[in-house]
Amino acid sequence: MKSILAALLALASLSASAAPFARGDAAAGKKLHDEKCVACHQRLVGGDGSDLYTRIDRKIETPQALRQRVAACSAQVDAGWFPEEEEHAAAYLNSRFYKFK
Ligand code: HEC
Repeated sequence: MKSILAALLALASLSASAAPFARGDAAAGKKLHDEKCVACHQRLVGGDGSDLYTRIDRKIETPQALRQRVAACSAQVDAGWFPEEEEHAAAYLNSRFYKFK
């Protein structure tokens, strides 16, 4: 029991130190994002919609928040994404805009 706990703790610290969304595929994420997400964001902020991610008062400040926001937005718009696809979209948004380490 104790060793299982130790193993879990080791795993948790390992994943905390890994780059965020390491399992996400940013190229796949861009495709998914452009398909399901861009149009509405464009209506909100104009341009290509990316101002939403780069504006000074953007809402997302951590990788966890980004992951949650992607999940919430995709559920809200009924994108029908699997968790893997949310991970891809988060990886794309992070590599292109948020740049969390
Ligand atoms: C129907 C409209 C709509 C669609 C479609 C939509 N979003 Fe959003 N999104 C919003 C709104 C509204 C906000 C919040 C703007 C605010 O808080 O000022 C937002 C905010 C966000 C943010 C946070 C921006 C910040 O402040 O840092 C992320 C990330 C995001 N959306 C991801 C997605 C993803 C991924 C998808 C596709 C699955 C998606 N959104 C689809 C309306 C939408």
